[in-house]
Amino acid sequence: MTKTDFNDRMLSLGLARVAEQAAIASADWIGRGDEKAADQAAVNAMREQLNKLDIAGVVVIGEGERDEAPMLFIGEEVGSGSGPGVDIALDPLEGTTLTAKDMPNALTVIAMGPRGSMLHAPDTYMDKLAVGPGYPQDVVSLSMSPSERVEALAAAKNCAPSDITVCILERPRHEAMIAEVRATGASIRMITDGDVAGVMHCAEADITGIDMYMGQGGAPEGVLAAAALKCMGGQMWGKLVFRNADEKSRASKAGITDFDKIYSRDEMVTQDVIFAASGVTSGSILPGIKREVGRITTETILMRSKTGSVRRMNYRHPIES
Ligand code: FBP
Repeated sequence: MTKTDFNDRMLSLGLARVAEQAAIASADWIGRGDEKAADQAAVNAMREQLNKLDIAGVVVIGEGERDEAPMLFIGEEVGSGSGPGVDIALDPLEGTTLTAKDMPNALTVIAMGPRGSMLHAPDTYMDKLAVGPGYPQDVVSLSMSPSERVEALAAAKNCAPSDITVCILERPRHEAMIAEVRATGASIRMITDGDVAGVMHCAEADITGIDMYMGQGGAPEGVLAAAALKCMGGQMWGKLVFRNADEKSRASKAGITDFDKIYSRDEMVTQDVIFAASGVTSGSILPGIKREVGRITTETILMRSKTGSVRRMNYRHPIES
């Protein structure tokens, strides 16, 4: 192995540190009603930590395009510059509103892989569908109606549709989908934000109680969720949704040529990656930041798709009281 190989095993602890520090930085903003400040704190900390890593990194999923985001913009080079060339997908604070309102499942999220390993998704919506591991390939699909998906998954799980729980973002655009899923008898775990966590829930259905995720959310979050599922196991599909010509032109700039393509998990994340997420507010995937006099504790999920290893790491950090 040369110094410039993507040594996922060695790089993974560094990635966990990046997620941890972003979570610690956002801790002061939990429940303070200020989304922007919470996000900015996480962005600053994530960037500072990334720049300590011996990588020649490029942000491919980030805070926005260069002219909109001063830091961690798409195309920004991060890391010391010496080390392997890597692509980085990140969301320093996935669930800014969840953090500001102290609601469950806000996470700091980052994935890293060799150059060219992740879809350069534009900042548009994506139609998403995900299920956990253990089902036949293509057990459900984006071309099925929501009720067909519930019925197909129930048949594969050998249970009734009423035993299936679907996670959906609560948005007016999902009203028809919600009504159709309800009509099957399935239960819906409605979330107000945070569909990376929503998709990850499917991979641990026995703990979270969620069998399937469906609905439209951010395309960048879709790629991050695909990276998580590639490590945890499970199937996911995504189709970019364009609301206007400007969004199509953003997609073209990002190198997308087929606007109707349905991407599988492995078409969104084409090579092995590492993934880290730290809990900011407590949820069913990770406990949130815990603050006590003199110390702060974070929990991070750190995963490698090459081995399918999933670690949960508890980090205690002294603070001045
Ligand atoms: P932020 O953390 O940027 O607030 O995004 C959270 C989120 O809920 C994502 O998880 C999801 O993909 C997207 O916003 C949904 O977008 P919208 O709020 O426009 O429906």
